Amino acid sequence: MTFLDMTRQRFSVRKFSPDPVEPERLDRILEAARNAPTAHNNQPQRIFVMQSPEAIAIVDACTRGRFGAPVVLILCYDAKESWKRKDGYDSGEVDLGIVGTHIMFEAVEQGLGTCWVAMFNPEEVRRRLELADSIIPVAVMPVGHPAPDAEPYLFHDQRRLLADTVIRK
Ligand SMILES: Cc1cc2nc3c(=O)[nH]c(=O)nc-3n(C[C@H](O)[C@H](O)[C@H](O)COP(=O)(O)O)c2cc1C
Repeated sequence: MTFLDMTRQRFSVRKFSPDPVEPERLDRILEAARNAPTAHNNQPQRIFVMQSPEAIAIVDACTRGRFGAPVVLILCYDAKESWKRKDGYDSGEVDLGIVGTHIMFEAVEQGLGTCWVAMFNPEEVRRRLELADSIIPVAVMPVGHPAPDAEPYLFHDQRRLLADTVIRK
């Protein structure tokens, strides 16, 4: 499968099978996250792998966006480590966007589904994971085998025309 095919095939999975994620598949996903480029190669990502019953209970207290997945990654960055430009711009969120994208596409290659979930309670995440002040949670990402009847949501195919989003000069 070409990368372009993968970009067509991926969709946000919002219904997961309870089947466990094989450890070697999860390892490959985490390795893909490790390979992501980050500003100045600072690698500020901190990824919580939530899998135990206790960890899943924490996720469920923080978001409705687990969708039955047996594994949830909480993607954070350490603001003490993310690269800052002189004008104060902090690359942490962008770094995590790229890390998360690597995760999503390695998951496709592994036959797994993911969903980027921003709808979570950051204060609950902070409190329940006892995060240091510098650790910023960016996304919650359920990972698992899609349920047999998992389907792309309505919006999935509604991509704008290239002419709407690309400005050629
Ligand atoms: C930054 C970001 C935040 C998102 N937050 C949520 C969310 O909280 N809940 C959810 O179900 N989907 C969320 N999504 C998934 C988007 O709704 C989805 O990617 C978009 O509708 C396109 O559909 P597709 O991923 O199936 O192609 C988020 C996606 C991104 C990139």
